[in-house]
Amino acid sequence: MDTIKYVLTENQMPKAWYNIQADLPQALPPVLNPATGKPITPDELLPLFPLALIEQEVSQQRWIEIPDAVRSIYCQWRPTPLYRARRLEQALDTPAKIYYKYEGVSPSGSHKPNTAVAQAYYNKQAGVKKLTTETGAGQWGSSLAFAGALFGLEVLVYMVKVSYQQKPYRRALMETYGARVVASPSTQTQAGREILAQNPNSNGSLGIAISEAVEVAAADEQTKYALGSVLNHVLLHQTVIGQEALTQLEMAGDYPDIVIGCTGGGSNFAGIAFPFLGAKLRGERDIQVIAVEPAACPSLTRGKYAYDFGDTAHLTPLTKMHTLGSSFVPEGIHAGGLRYHGMAPLVSHIVNLGLVESRAEYQLACFAAGLTFARAEGILPAPEANHAVKATIDQALLCKQEGRSKTILFNLCGHGHFDMQAYIDYQAGRLVDTEYSAEEVAMALAGLPVVDS
Ligand SMILES: Cc1ncc(COP(=O)(O)O)c(C=O)c1O
Repeated sequence: MDTIKYVLTENQMPKAWYNIQADLPQALPPVLNPATGKPITPDELLPLFPLALIEQEVSQQRWIEIPDAVRSIYCQWRPTPLYRARRLEQALDTPAKIYYKYEGVSPSGSHKPNTAVAQAYYNKQAGVKKLTTETGAGQWGSSLAFAGALFGLEVLVYMVKVSYQQKPYRRALMETYGARVVASPSTQTQAGREILAQNPNSNGSLGIAISEAVEVAAADEQTKYALGSVLNHVLLHQTVIGQEALTQLEMAGDYPDIVIGCTGGGSNFAGIAFPFLGAKLRGERDIQVIAVEPAACPSLTRGKYAYDFGDTAHLTPLTKMHTLGSSFVPEGIHAGGLRYHGMAPLVSHIVNLGLVESRAEYQLACFAAGLTFARAEGILPAPEANHAVKATIDQALLCKQEGRSKTILFNLCGHGHFDMQAYIDYQAGRLVDTEYSAEEVAMALAGLPVVDS
């Protein structure tokens, strides 16, 4: 029988995270203090993050050991399977070989616990009692709620209002793990109150929810803030995905020509792509890498590579990234996890160096791709993951058109079992493609901070 799943033993799980900063041809631009315009010091980040995570943020070491306590929790669902999508290949009648790494087997249903568990561990080690965070689709919030439950940490989640309304079961899952969930913008923070004063009907955004969570953490010594994407240490923790995939593809006797991931803040994409990009940067193997984002929030394809704030109320430091402007509020598309105005500085830098291609896709075409995938492979992808599925199908059909075979690997970063309303709305014809509003983005970009560089 042809192999479908490539499965590793717990002992084959990576023992270290891979830090791409060690292999970059040019160093990452520094993070700046907005008040001074100078590179930020670790001390200035301590109110928000434990020292161990700040050290990982700036580390240039290629391998960073995964603590045993974290590896032992990873074993609840890792190593995750690598699938050969034989039935999808058949359905598309393509000569391409398609593989996908399935992160939906985690307790919360996506890649997010890979960093949630690590962040909760380092916070617990530092004596922190409570974590605040934002969540878009609810995948990150439920992952941190799960990790908080394991380490006995209180978790407070600001959930983007449109997702709070669209995904009540995600909220219920977070509460089941013991977290408190608040719809953002809320009246509980200065940042939330200011947004509501300007727009009482605000749908919320990840930028606004981050402001609320940061404000609360900064005001209390025993509370710290955890971010589900964007930061270097978050991307680092996700590299277990690509490292496992490398071993699994070796079992299959294959190596990808193309690696594909969807991008919201960049963490699942980095998780699958960075170990392969590392091999490319070290001159070992070449590879084409594609980052896929929603057309309604196209930071990589239409944003500016500039210093900007990570949040709407401007409580965070300045990072150089692809951005649509920190006041940009994307349409309420169902891929809630991809509705972020910025992009991880590491992913932005790598795109800027020409190592990664980016493309934007509309939600209707992504849902259509998700249905094709589900009907062939059985797994229902999260709406975010459908962006990677769409690009994979496009590449496979291109192979068919050109009459050549390529090996494609994509990250199926989560399942869509909590996103059924999105699938109901799509099948009932109630979803629309929202046009990227050039005017709104131009306005948001006009407010970019001025930085001497
Ligand atoms: C399933 C899923 N995929 C992707 C994302 C986007 O985040 P990132 O780009 O950091 O992987 C999210 C974010 O919440 C998500 O829930």
